[in-house]
Amino acid sequence: MLEQLVQQLDELGQRADDAVTTAGDEDALRKLEIRFLGKKGAVTAAMKAMGKLAPGDRPVAGKKANEVRNLITTAIDSRRSSLEADRIQRLCVDPHFDATLPTPRRGVGALHPVTLITQHIEDVFRAMGFHLLDYPEVETEFFNFDGLNIPASHPARDMQDTFWLSNGLLLRTHTSPGQVRAMREYDAPFRAIFPGKVYRFEEVDASHEHTFHQVEGLMIERDISVANLIDSMKILLSEILEREATIRLRPGYFPFVEPGFELDIQCQVCGGKGCAVCKRSGWVELLPCGLVHPNVLRHGGLDPDEWSGWAFGLGLSRLVMMKYQIEDIRHLLSGDLRFISQFRQG
Ligand code: PHE
Repeated sequence: MLEQLVQQLDELGQRADDAVTTAGDEDALRKLEIRFLGKKGAVTAAMKAMGKLAPGDRPVAGKKANEVRNLITTAIDSRRSSLEADRIQRLCVDPHFDATLPTPRRGVGALHPVTLITQHIEDVFRAMGFHLLDYPEVETEFFNFDGLNIPASHPARDMQDTFWLSNGLLLRTHTSPGQVRAMREYDAPFRAIFPGKVYRFEEVDASHEHTFHQVEGLMIERDISVANLIDSMKILLSEILEREATIRLRPGYFPFVEPGFELDIQCQVCGGKGCAVCKRSGWVELLPCGLVHPNVLRHGGLDPDEWSGWAFGLGLSRLVMMKYQIEDIRHLLSGDLRFISQFRQG
């Protein structure tokens, strides 16, 4: 009984080995694997037959069965790699095989338009010798308001509805707090931009978000004039928009600049005809700016008789909307990949 089984196993191994080494392709090999090693395969059947042996004979038969199984497994593995190598070899000499063809398209990410425009602005200003600074989003009341000439009693505090934190700090409502921080940090004269996220406790609609991006610009010099400010703003806009844009300048009130201006751009979404983005006026407020107020210079540790400066606070959502003709601000933070993927470059 034992001898019979051992012989059977030996023959089985031999047959399997012959079949495997002559298997013509990977498909045939897979079938052989099932036939010999599968759950209902020949080796399994032989193992089951062992139950009928006398208990003392079982270890000998078991050892043999394992040997045979290992032999078949090794034969299959080696045949599989040689078939695979043959297949690649054939592909390489196939006259129809072109290794230079593009592979199937992979999902590539795209930068958000606000990121693209921020990088562009950074490039433009770096080339003009500006520092690129980064300031906290969680601010103190002093840097966000008082240091910018907006004391608690000042009606201008209502212009920017604020997210107050329970610890008395706040989410910065604009990037302007960086003005006083930068003046304290760097020796005059200097020039810097500080881009970042800002927060307002606002109702969200087609042109307002509670979270948005600004880039603040600050230049501290000895004799800065309004002409100098306007000239710089014009360079900035033409560089960023990469096209001629119609602008207008109005007086604008901000406690931290004197004089202050609102630079408006003709709405690029509707071409000035009037739409939801420009609230039917044809113009969009884009770039508030002005000469730094003497009180702000003082808070920054500078003598207003000696130093002067200009500052601007550029809203990036509006700029992006103008540049790419986007009609609803809510697309920007929607997280919708169909929106973002339109800005894929290359
Ligand atoms: N910080 C102002 C705002 O967010 C904009 C501004 C910046 C105005 C610098 C003048 C100068 O509304």
